[in-house]
Amino acid sequence: MLTTAADFYLIIYLRRRALTGTVALSLLGRHILLGVSGGIAAYKSAELARLLVKAGAEVRVVMTTAATEFVGPMTFQALTGHTVRSGLFDEEHEAAMGHIELARWADLVVIAPATADLMARLAHGKAEDLLTTLVLATPAAVAIAPAMNQQMWADTATQANLERLDEREYLIWGPAAGEQACGDVGMGRMIEPAEIAEKIDASFPGGRLDGISAMVTAGPTYEAIDPVRFIGNRSSGKMGFAVARALVEQGAEVTLVAGPVKLEAPKGVRRIDVESAAEMHAAVMDSIAGQALFVASAAVADYRPADVADGKIKKSAQSMTLELVRNPDILADVAALPEPPFCVGFAAETHDVVGHAEEKRTRKNLDMIAANHVGGETGGFDAADNALTVLWKNGSIELPMMDKQRLAHRLVELICDQFKKPEGDD
Ligand code: PMT
Repeated sequence: MLTTAADFYLIIYLRRRALTGTVALSLLGRHILLGVSGGIAAYKSAELARLLVKAGAEVRVVMTTAATEFVGPMTFQALTGHTVRSGLFDEEHEAAMGHIELARWADLVVIAPATADLMARLAHGKAEDLLTTLVLATPAAVAIAPAMNQQMWADTATQANLERLDEREYLIWGPAAGEQACGDVGMGRMIEPAEIAEKIDASFPGGRLDGISAMVTAGPTYEAIDPVRFIGNRSSGKMGFAVARALVEQGAEVTLVAGPVKLEAPKGVRRIDVESAAEMHAAVMDSIAGQALFVASAAVADYRPADVADGKIKKSAQSMTLELVRNPDILADVAALPEPPFCVGFAAETHDVVGHAEEKRTRKNLDMIAANHVGGETGGFDAADNALTVLWKNGSIELPMMDKQRLAHRLVELICDQFKKPEGDD
């Protein structure tokens, strides 16, 4: 990808504007897939990308081949920090993040500008390039900001396509009327990037947990046997990290106490890394005061070796026995505090999932528990997808198998419903 002189000056111009930009939006951690199709308004999308990044969103850009004739991909790469995708059959990109994965990654797909041709292809469900394929493959909402010559906009074919897209619940933002690049005056200008950014912001449900402090535990714990060996489990931390992100997106201030995992913390989260159950217990207890919500998704070891050998244990004997002692139960200790936060536990079970989970909920005095069927082909540990049965005092709901991030959003919605409910109101 080459940067043309025009792209170079566009980047400098946008960076300067970044210092004086006035739009105050909060899109912290939102995943925005920005599609750019081939119209003169494509250069305005660079400004849109800048505004979204400034507002805290993660932005990935997909351009049609025609769009790259108007703005170089390097402009978007420089603004978003991610390489821009265009082709459907790009092996390098597919290896890094496949197009289905990218479609699932998006919280919102925004196509700006959307040309008459792109609208026609979307209206007919075409999947002949990466952008149209992603639109078909995404579970997220799709917004378009049309931009074209006024005569093309007025054409009955475009209007029929618009109607189809509207029926299919596309969000249609604009166009505006005014002077056009071709000299015509009329309907068809893309609405301004700041206005699109505001519409993106408004399309996400507002923070139901604004000003609320929440703590999440995630991942496994490692219980040392000697300096090189430990007892661990298969938790990847994905579920807990997804919950932390969903809480942040509802406006909560989140502290994430993470066992040993290879994941990046969601933006805006305060992360505390620990290794063992004892360390996780200490980290939680140190910071629990003032937390209104506690979500325990970590797979904490119930037992640890009674003694940790100073040096590597040699294999001299034919067999060996490890004595294990109980670890503290972090969740139970938090729920037993004089003024406990709203406590949400997880229960990883292989059989009688709901029965065991309900027993844990009442025994540990929890407000809510997410029963997780683990083992076999059912998601749970280390999988991308998961399913939960969520139980609270007077209710329950099944959340079917889905991507862990979407599941976390659904769980956090339920937490918000119960957390804010006045006592006795069911
Ligand atoms: O990390 P992933 O790969 O995404 O997998 C997600 C998950 C399967 C680990 C997660 O969804 C899950 O089910 N977490 C809970 C696992 C578990 O250890 O459950 P449990 O039934 O053993 O514990 C019940 C509850 O008590 C849990 O909330 C646990 O965090 C908590 N606990 C348990 C023991 C202990 N010593 N301290 C605790 O706080």
